[in-house]
Amino acid sequence: MCGILGYIGNQSKTVDVLLQGLTRLEYRGYDSSGIAIIQDGRARVFKSKGKLSKLKTKVKKHSPKGLLGIGHTRWATHGDASQKNAHPHVSGGTSVVHNGIIENYLELKNELKKKGFKFYSDTDTEVIAHLIEDTIEGGLCFEDAARAAFERIEGSYAIAVISDKDPDKVIATRKFSPLILAIGDHENYLASDVPAILPFSRKVIYLEDGDVAVLERDTISITDIDGKHVSRDVQEINWDPISAEKCGYRHFMMKEIFEQPRAVLDTMRGRFSEETGDVYFEGLDASLFKNVNRIVALACGTSYHASLIGKYMIEKIAKVSVEVDIASEFRYRKPILDNKTLAIAVSQSGETADTSEALLEAKGRGATTLCITNVMMSKIARDADGVIYTHAGPEIGVASTKAFTTQLIAFYLFAIYLGRIKKQLTKKQSIEMIKEAISIPQLIEITLKLDGRIKELAKEFFKYRNFLYLGRGINHPIAFEGALKLKEISYIHAEGYAAGEMKHGPIALIDEDMPVVLIAPGDGVTYKKILGNLQEVRARRGKVIFLTSDPGAQELQGIVDKVIEVPDSSYLLSPIISIIPLQLLAYHIATYKGTDVDQPRNLAKVVTVE
Ligand code: M6R
Repeated sequence: MCGILGYIGNQSKTVDVLLQGLTRLEYRGYDSSGIAIIQDGRARVFKSKGKLSKLKTKVKKHSPKGLLGIGHTRWATHGDASQKNAHPHVSGGTSVVHNGIIENYLELKNELKKKGFKFYSDTDTEVIAHLIEDTIEGGLCFEDAARAAFERIEGSYAIAVISDKDPDKVIATRKFSPLILAIGDHENYLASDVPAILPFSRKVIYLEDGDVAVLERDTISITDIDGKHVSRDVQEINWDPISAEKCGYRHFMMKEIFEQPRAVLDTMRGRFSEETGDVYFEGLDASLFKNVNRIVALACGTSYHASLIGKYMIEKIAKVSVEVDIASEFRYRKPILDNKTLAIAVSQSGETADTSEALLEAKGRGATTLCITNVMMSKIARDADGVIYTHAGPEIGVASTKAFTTQLIAFYLFAIYLGRIKKQLTKKQSIEMIKEAISIPQLIEITLKLDGRIKELAKEFFKYRNFLYLGRGINHPIAFEGALKLKEISYIHAEGYAAGEMKHGPIALIDEDMPVVLIAPGDGVTYKKILGNLQEVRARRGKVIFLTSDPGAQELQGIVDKVIEVPDSSYLLSPIISIIPLQLLAYHIATYKGTDVDQPRNLAKVVTVE
């Protein structure tokens, strides 16, 4: 996730608007930043690796001036965090900033290389600048050339472009990535989100997918890709600056919970073919996995819970045995590994000390190493032999939400990938599995609609002091994760158990003061068993919140206290759906209790100490 910005209007304001706006967008990524300003008919481009403060120093030293400019703050996806990969990317007189992923960039890059274009970065974005320049050289005006380029790219994007051939326009478009316009007095703005422009304007237009906007000093025109005029409402924003940073949500955690359909989609994007059933991971060498006959997954906290689910996925799909270790334990138990073992380190931040050290321990003992992480070029990503990035975008809330669901989809795709390498999957089977994955973002959207109902439920339950979460099969780690979410942000004691373990101890805890969350997607065998657990809880007067995809479960009203009905999905992907209501439940209980949801006591987002 990156932040983009554009401005046209007043020469004395351009630099200030861009730098102030980027400061407010910096939470979207801080690997590098850059701006381009058209001055005296030519683009002046400034870029810096690292924090925005470096760019500010550079820009102030050269004091560029111009009526219009674009800016970018980067969260690396294609190409490492370096100055050469920082935006804007330039081709001839065209400068481009982009947030998202261009899926067909390799194909376009090869085509443009054949035409003689030289590439200076490893990014997917650079193709956009060359495509536009190519068409301008072919005789089209800037606007038509931009449109022609937008028509050729596939993937998710919010883009802003300027050209020294037409230095009175900023052109922008979006698809699956946010982009807003803002109207000023003889000046106009564009940005990835509202907070970036809030000090300058409160009149905002939300662009829709496929819109192309041309911003001039006194006008904004919005068309579809074919140039047909489209009308979009101007909305007056009355948020205060802090809530604006959270896009109107009260907390980052809630914003991130609601970002999950997009985050999961971005993590899948460009990584499979629906026709062949093949799965690809950029930069990953398939030969690493040919001899692997055993996997150990190493992680902490929420990433550990994702790994427990990953075990189910890999064993079921690729038929390779998986052990899951808590990273801090693995390091000190002299694990037995060899060169046929694959160690997978799983970490949102890629900087967790325990996981990082566990990965090095595995490497030192001869294992092949892979990591699943959300942060480009993080320590774990640098140390592992191979990397799979989740594309969740920066996660700011301490309680991990979108990082978890994107780790699950990454594990699922990796299981198919490995299954194909190990010849455990037919083409037909993998096509079917990919289809199941494609349906997930929409199922998450549907599940998020339960928010209002879960808020009511939280109101009834927030005064309890203990909770028990029970799940079975692939959803038993969801009991752990649901309990972890509740305890870390609401400070309520919560335990997660595999439901079958209840009779071996935890059942002693059950009475009318113990709400029990039963996670029971309507899958065959384990569902029947969990109905048995339900009766055991009821017999001891426990309060039951029953989470299921079985529409018939409504008949259980009277036996259970509350039913949360989630949409049905395939068994292996059901944890991605069942965790959503539990994230919401923890969130609403915490807000009723009035705790600090985004920065709960005693916790840190990145744990870099042992
Ligand atoms: O960055 P990592 O995924 O390595 O972090 C691991 C844990 O510290 C993290 O998941 C922690 O448990 C979260 N606060 C859970 O919400």
